[in-house]
Amino acid sequence: MKGRVLVTGGLGYIGSHTSVELLAQGYEVVIADNLSNTRAEVLDGIEAIAGTRPEWLQVDLSDSAACRLALEGQHFDGIIHFAAYKAVGESVAEPLKYYQNNLFSLINLLDYVSKHPHCGFIFSSSCTVYGQADELPITENAPIKAAESPYGNTKQIGEEIIRETALAAGLKTIALRYFNPIGAHPSAKIGELPLGVPQNLVPFITQSAAGLRGPLSVYGNDYPTADGTAIRDYIHVVDLAQAHMVALERLMENKHEAPMEVFNLGTGKGSTVLEVIESFQRATGAALSYTMAPRRAGDVIAAYADTQRASAVLGWAAKKSLDESMRDAWAWQMALGSDSH
Ligand code: WQD
Repeated sequence: MKGRVLVTGGLGYIGSHTSVELLAQGYEVVIADNLSNTRAEVLDGIEAIAGTRPEWLQVDLSDSAACRLALEGQHFDGIIHFAAYKAVGESVAEPLKYYQNNLFSLINLLDYVSKHPHCGFIFSSSCTVYGQADELPITENAPIKAAESPYGNTKQIGEEIIRETALAAGLKTIALRYFNPIGAHPSAKIGELPLGVPQNLVPFITQSAAGLRGPLSVYGNDYPTADGTAIRDYIHVVDLAQAHMVALERLMENKHEAPMEVFNLGTGKGSTVLEVIESFQRATGAALSYTMAPRRAGDVIAAYADTQRASAVLGWAAKKSLDESMRDAWAWQMALGSDSH
């Protein structure tokens, strides 16, 4: 075994794809997930792809006693922490739910890592910490702007808690700032499982095209962009999962250059909403109906990554195209059938 890794939120979207990559690389994977935003069947999908069924700890990591009990006596070479609430709009309506869950979980895990400093810690962060960056593409040195939502704030505060704890306790940690994860595993056995009406663009597109939702509302066509719609950096979730392998190896081989390192994970290419729609229809042959709607509060005009640091230091770059992401997202939607949530 290459090592034993705890994947929190490992039954979630990025967590499940990362668990599959870890298993393929020969790691022993233990998943901690309380099913607050996913379904137990995801474990079957991971096993179907990897041929191995990871151990699953059904635990609420924000409960310090439960977390301590679950991790007691456990040895991990690495922890990859995905478990968090992530719906921007919901976080505005229920800020305490987000601060309690996202920050208490992180603090409880860091308490374990502080007692096991050999264990590398990787944090799922987000480009949302940049807000509307002054310069594009966005580098890791771009200033952190006031968070647009309690969700974004939990990522900013989370990074600060990690930075200070890692410095004080001599830990080895990496924060990965994702741009917009999309797509699904090419096997169509795991993918994004939005519960309720999807807030994110691509799952809404696939559910609408599958007839499970009405037409897509394009939030704003009066932005100062080529076609008036907002720009994002859409990265295939398998590319993202593979970046976690590289970050984990960096920590396990003690190649890190600071107690906490930060990397932007994107393709470096910005796409407008209309370009995403065109890509979807071109790549899948499926028709999508959509209407123009007012801008959504809190949305930035444009965000896409400067990929130089990830390339130069991690030796990682995204490989999959937008069309490939659309094809995989659609294949997953077809595999789900009418099983919307
Ligand atoms: C993308 C673009 C919308 C839905 C958020 C979080 C980020 C991460 C990913 C959790 C925007 C437009 C969307 C729709 C639309 N979350 N859109 N119609 O807002 O860039 O990022 O989700 O990890 O942290 O901030 O992603 O997919 O919601 O929106 O026109 O029905 O699509 O306005 O321009 P976003 P998104």
